[in-house]
Amino acid sequence: MSEDGQPVALVTGANRGIGREVARQLAAKGYAVIASARDGAKARQAAEELAADAGGAVTPLTLDVASRDSIQAAAEGLHRNPGRLDVLVNNAGAGADFGVSGTAPDFDAIEAALQTNFYGAYRLTVALLDLLRASAHPRVVNVSSGMGGIAEMGGWSPGYRISKAALNATTRILSTELKDEGVLVNSACPGFVNTDMGGQFGAKKPVEDGAAGIVWLATLPDDGPTGGFFRDGEPVTF
Ligand SMILES: NC(=O)c1ccc[n+]([C@@H]2O[C@H](COP(=O)([O-])OP(=O)(O)OC[C@H]3O[C@@H](n4cnc5c(N)ncnc54)[C@H](OP(=O)(O)O)[C@@H]3O)[C@@H](O)[C@H]2O)c1
Repeated sequence: MSEDGQPVALVTGANRGIGREVARQLAAKGYAVIASARDGAKARQAAEELAADAGGAVTPLTLDVASRDSIQAAAEGLHRNPGRLDVLVNNAGAGADFGVSGTAPDFDAIEAALQTNFYGAYRLTVALLDLLRASAHPRVVNVSSGMGGIAEMGGWSPGYRISKAALNATTRILSTELKDEGVLVNSACPGFVNTDMGGQFGAKKPVEDGAAGIVWLATLPDDGPTGGFFRDGEPVTF
């Protein structure tokens, strides 16, 4: 909780799709939302529209999670202002190799997927960990995918699958190490959602519904789960 009682939440990739809707729902719930996007102009436009739409405080932040320098600059800025953080939603994600066979992989695409979906979320979480630890109710939500579940994993899209499986591993590692400090870390699968990413493959799930399960994890009570993987509030197999 922030000094003035308003919790602060950072959502990455908040300029469109699920991230934008998560930011909107958190702002509507009274969170001071920091809406980040890799394109600063898009972050500013989204923050302005979200603030008007949700009637809450939304601040833009330029952040390319695939860039170490951008993460460092954003983290330094957040330490200066607002100097606190209660919720981190690692939503920014890219599908660089949907449909590509694992027998003929595009290793550049696999590297690109790892940079955004895995390294980006992991580096950002670590860069902001001291702020989260200082929160009374810290929450981290890693927006993953059922495609990253190892137990029932199928073929194709190796970069996307591997990057989300690795993201899920960070959920397990960090949740274990941070449990005694009250930092709840979970993975979320939004389902097959009609955004730019899912819509091209015929996804029909409304973005509001995909975001709701993420917002639930971002706003868990102190006795809520940690180290889990959930879709629509129900456990998913890692
Ligand atoms: N849609 C689905 O069916 C589905 C299913 C399972 C999981 N997911 C996951 O849900 C999350 C959101 O997906 P979505 O459906 O909303 O996808 P989307 O509509 O394609 O939006 C992706 C968001 O991530 C941002 N992004 C990509 N690379 C970035 C980077 N390097 N730095 C910062 N931001 C970056 C994009 O910014 P730009 O506008 O700058 O590109 C955009 O804001 C992703 O993690 C995705 O893997 C989606």
